Amino acid sequence: MGKQARAIVDLSLKDLVKDLQKAYADEWLAYYLYWYMAKTVSGRAYEDMQEMLEKVAKDELEHAGELADLITKLGDAPIANPMDLEKNANSPYLTPPKNTADINRIIRIVTEAEAGAIEVYNKIAKKTFGKDNVTYQLVTHILSEEVTHEEMFENLLER
Ligand SMILES: [Fe+2]
Ligand SMILES: [Fe+2]
Repeated sequence: MGKQARAIVDLSLKDLVKDLQKAYADEWLAYYLYWYMAKTVSGRAYEDMQEMLEKVAKDELEHAGELADLITKLGDAPIANPMDLEKNANSPYLTPPKNTADINRIIRIVTEAEAGAIEVYNKIAKKTFGKDNVTYQLVTHILSEEVTHEEMFENLLER
């Protein structure tokens, strides 16, 4: 990002980058969690769950990439060491179920992670609205995808 592009960001850049780094860490943890559960899910109709988890994992990896690009544009570098991801995340890593056939538990884990993501992006969107339109545009785009993820999995919950 050039001088003028940075100058029009009407809030603390340091603060903004910190929020983006935290979201970046969340995305990697979500990616790993969903990818892991996709690889290990078992039991009846496991293939549908595997397919959904793989699709959502791919979206989370894409979000991590988009955030990495934005952090770089803002003059910083995304977290370099994977050991630092959980430390910097908004919430701790959610543990996959021991029982890999426990589809309901998987659904609850995903909906919990997505609810957290929705909260985080909504907060960043509110903070950047009218103050940093580039970040605002990216986080609202990601937010809309997290809303879709939550809905996809919520619809599977047994009522
Ligand atoms: Fe995401
Ligand atoms: Fe998501």
